[in-house]
Amino acid sequence: MLSFAWFYEKIYPRIEPRRIREQRRAIAGKARRAVLEIGVGNGLNLPYYRRSTDITGIDPDRRLLTYAYRRSTDNTRLIPGHAEELPFKDESFDTVVSTFTFCSVRNPCRVATEIRRVLKTEGCFLFMEHVVSGNQVWHSLQRWLQPCWGRLFGGCCLTRKTLDIFKQAGLEIIELQRLSGGLLPIVSGTALKTPFNNYDNPGGDKNGRQKVAYTNFG
Ligand SMILES: C[S@@+](CC[C@H](N)C(=O)[O-])C[C@H]1O[C@@H](n2cnc3c(N)ncnc32)[C@H](O)[C@@H]1O
Repeated sequence: MLSFAWFYEKIYPRIEPRRIREQRRAIAGKARRAVLEIGVGNGLNLPYYRRSTDITGIDPDRRLLTYAYRRSTDNTRLIPGHAEELPFKDESFDTVVSTFTFCSVRNPCRVATEIRRVLKTEGCFLFMEHVVSGNQVWHSLQRWLQPCWGRLFGGCCLTRKTLDIFKQAGLEIIELQRLSGGLLPIVSGTALKTPFNNYDNPGGDKNGRQKVAYTNFG
């Protein structure tokens, strides 16, 4: 049956630009020790992780997880679930990875806050995401295409302000690469946990959880 999962497994890997594949390899190569990949999908990053890592992949789409299972090894565990409510204790992971997941999640602010919660203090968050265009013409086209695009690509949002969301959740971007522009500006980088305090985060709780409302950003 033609579905997003079918397209993402059977067609997408054949047409994915080489630059993106190389970036998957680079990101997975940087991941260390206990790794959480949110929105692991069909596991396109799995072949690139080091053997010394312990990988946990979470995704709500069970069909994609079945494909991911075929790419997994002994050090991989795959679990169904949403990144808005990660079933892990605080500070459980050395590395969290997200590639093209923030465009699809329902509540990106909440996901970013969960990532910060499960990351160890000295851990790092590695990402590659497509984001809203800074160019007015491309931005208008993104907005125009959005209704049809979202239906075709599993709810994918073209106009998400993902980098702002990371910052607001207390994930400080320390390195950023722009991989493409136009309709689909892709960025990749590394973020660390900022030491949230009540000065930066008036009203935030003692664990540094943010006060900002969990709204669905565009
Ligand atoms: C475009 S695919 C990317 C898959 C994979 N990360 C990759 O790089 O190929 C978006 C993924 O996000 C997953 N997803 C959607 N909503 C999610 C949520 N709330 N929590 C975690 N993953 C989610 C989808 O099931 C899908 O696997």
